[in-house]
Amino acid sequence: MSSENKESWGSRIGLILAMAGNAVGLGNFLRFPVQALQNGGGAFIIPYLVCFLLMGIPLLWAEWAMGRFGGKHGHHSTPFILDAMDKRRFWKYMGVFGIFTNVAVAAYYCYLESWTMSYVYHSVAGTFAPMSSEQVAAFFDSYVDVKTSTTGLPYEPIIFFVLCILLNTWILSKGLSGGVEKASKIGMPLLLIFGVFLAYKGVTLQAGEHGAQFSGLVGLNFLWTPQFDSLANPQVWLAAAGQIFFTLSVGMGTIQCYASYVRPKDDIALNAMSAGWMNEFVEVVLGSAILIPIAVGYLGIDKVIEMTKSGGLGLGFRTMPYLFQQWGAIVGAMAGVAFFGLLFFAGITSSLAMGTPWMGFLQDEFGWKRERAAWSFGLIVLVLGLPTVIFFQEGVFDEYDYWAGTVSLVVFALAESILFAWVFGMKKGWHEITQGADIEVPTVYRFIIKYITPALLLLVFLGAMFAPASGNWSEAIGLLFSGKGWALSDGAIFAKLFNQDIYRQIEVATDSATKDALHTKLWYVNGSRLLLLAVFVGIAYLVYLAQRKRKLQQA
Ligand code: PHE
Repeated sequence: MSSENKESWGSRIGLILAMAGNAVGLGNFLRFPVQALQNGGGAFIIPYLVCFLLMGIPLLWAEWAMGRFGGKHGHHSTPFILDAMDKRRFWKYMGVFGIFTNVAVAAYYCYLESWTMSYVYHSVAGTFAPMSSEQVAAFFDSYVDVKTSTTGLPYEPIIFFVLCILLNTWILSKGLSGGVEKASKIGMPLLLIFGVFLAYKGVTLQAGEHGAQFSGLVGLNFLWTPQFDSLANPQVWLAAAGQIFFTLSVGMGTIQCYASYVRPKDDIALNAMSAGWMNEFVEVVLGSAILIPIAVGYLGIDKVIEMTKSGGLGLGFRTMPYLFQQWGAIVGAMAGVAFFGLLFFAGITSSLAMGTPWMGFLQDEFGWKRERAAWSFGLIVLVLGLPTVIFFQEGVFDEYDYWAGTVSLVVFALAESILFAWVFGMKKGWHEITQGADIEVPTVYRFIIKYITPALLLLVFLGAMFAPASGNWSEAIGLLFSGKGWALSDGAIFAKLFNQDIYRQIEVATDSATKDALHTKLWYVNGSRLLLLAVFVGIAYLVYLAQRKRKLQQA
């Protein structure tokens, strides 16, 4: 069965760095600040921390425990890890999420990662130095507009994308200790050094110096002045929970895969905490001390909030390169290299993690060699990623992010938390978490994992399905009971499914060109979903084949 797959981690510090590298990603530096800005700064931070304690930590322990448990039985990807926990067929196919999500997220994540490579290059080459703020923004807009690019190099985004995939694949083909672990040992310290440098620049930014309007502390205060009234706003809770999932990489199947290579008697309780808290340090300390203080220092809070309304990536790629230039040619170039270099290291240690469940699955079930498994991952990411590159403008990228990078995580996390606490059972579950533990796991977590985490996950899931248009749940429920129906928010899963947002835009569009463009967009959006669905079904079919193979071998 799994005789081919004899990988393991080289050292404990290597494992922790790899796990931290898995968690610390673009989410920490680009997604977190934007979520915080969009959800009211200090209003966001309390739900965020509560979600970390009540959903993040429990899921970390559960996923590490599931992973090591699966590894004992020779399984390194979620379909058969879940199968080892309960024999009902449902769980095996639920486990498909733990491969699917990684492949689909990797497809757009590697594209994003390739921008950071390109921007490191352009920072060194001095491309941004002579540009006005409009020109820097226009540079990005044309960069992602591959079909009609005016940067002179229409294929540049594609070249960097392919380079990025090649690099990922090459490292993956070197294996866990020889590739992933080494990359993390180089990337994580560099990331911290770059991060501390930029955080220092951010926090010490002075009003009036180098053209800044405000000091860096204005942005920090906005983020860290708690506002307790936000606790009653479900939208903010949803956003906070979503960020906790994404940043910790829970609900993905990656942690299970990494943990399945931990030796059966080795600690997981402390390791999980080390990696998880390291991620939180990088997110709430470094992640909040760079983008927001600098952007707010130059542009003011209102402008920055306005800018993030239309999505978060603009702030990092359209605005920051220009702001860095205000510090002079040399420091500006250094800051550019540090910022995009940091993003690159954060990104690659995460995208490497996304490759491992697919590889583990093929190695376990079909006896593939590691190199072959790695290259096949690269190929899938290329094929699945190209539509996000070429049709970025048409919304394919966002579609992947929504279904694979957001919805799937919640679905899978909910399912696995029920499996772990209620089907596998807390007795065995607790034993798995605490066995070999180098810390005493607080017993209150036994209760939290059993009741609180699944309940919260269910709330988050239902909330995301049916979020009301007004954002005000009590009012919406009141309207429902008075027979006025339920108006869904455009962001609700149910509304997205039926393209409520696009149809609304079509309705209000006045000229036929806009209408046509929106109708075309519908094609791309639906097409992306079909593609993702096909990938899911394809992986499920492979799981079916693997299952049949096992049966035949047993007979
Ligand atoms: N946690 C990573 C981030 O913050 C994203 C990621 C998700 C990585 C899933 C691996 C698996 O960017």
